[in-house]
Amino acid sequence: MAGKQALNIVKMKKMKQEGTPLSMLTAYDYPSAKIAEEAGIDIILVGDSLGNVVLGYDSTIPVTLDDMVYHSRTVARGAEHTFIVADMPFMTYHSSISESLQGIRRLMQEGHAHAVKLEGGAEIADVVKATVQAGVPVLGHIGLTPQSVNQIGGYRIQGKDEADARRLMADAKALEQAGAFGIVLELVTEEVATAISKELSIPTIGIGAGRGCDGQVLVYHDLIQYASPYFSKRFVKTYADVGGLIRSSIEQYVSDVKGRAFPAQEHVFSADDRVVESLESLYGQAKGQAREQAKEKVESQS
Ligand code: KIV
Repeated sequence: MAGKQALNIVKMKKMKQEGTPLSMLTAYDYPSAKIAEEAGIDIILVGDSLGNVVLGYDSTIPVTLDDMVYHSRTVARGAEHTFIVADMPFMTYHSSISESLQGIRRLMQEGHAHAVKLEGGAEIADVVKATVQAGVPVLGHIGLTPQSVNQIGGYRIQGKDEADARRLMADAKALEQAGAFGIVLELVTEEVATAISKELSIPTIGIGAGRGCDGQVLVYHDLIQYASPYFSKRFVKTYADVGGLIRSSIEQYVSDVKGRAFPAQEHVFSADDRVVESLESLYGQAKGQAREQAKEKVESQS
């Protein structure tokens, strides 16, 4: 990947104008980020979905700022040439602007992110504005906002009626006006997401929001079926059964160890004959016979 230039928010806006879709994927650690970058993803999101798919929580609410900083830093090491957005977690940007900016500073300086994502609409426009004024690009996130799942009453589709459609459009415009460089639309009806995408000059990135968005985002573990509780959701397209592959590989390893098929001859290191002789003289016949016995065993298995 040497020489590859990370995308930036100016180019993203241009891509929208040109009708070039943006691909975004979550990643949470060095290997997932490295593979995503090698595969040519435009934007990596260090999502607080790591609470569900990496840390084993049943929501994103327990995820802390320390968790986000830690995971963002590992992602940045794996994807040095990719634009990285990191989520500000639950309740870290609601008490005061100055406290919010402290957390955002940590994601940028310690987590090495290029931008932050904040969930919410018009009600967080002031913190979006202050963040942008501080020089930090902000990705908005409206529709189903998982940090507010208890307020919303579950993981429900948004934008089903006219009032909801109007609310979503107003939130999208408030975020654009506050300076957000893009907006994630999560679980929004296709018609409403398409209308928002047409109305805004900044790109929309959809997840479960249909075909009219300017880009798409998926959760890494959903895309490859890697022990995700969500991959079977309707809006997710799975591209591989990596979880199944890992499981069968480990089953084979267990069986090889139990059946003494691993390690085999090609996996072992041999000492030279003098060492074998001195082992023999120091520890007696039994130790000296070890090599012969091992050889016999390998030969009988091959
Ligand atoms: O945390 C996350 O992974 C997200 C995506 C679902 C957009 O916010």
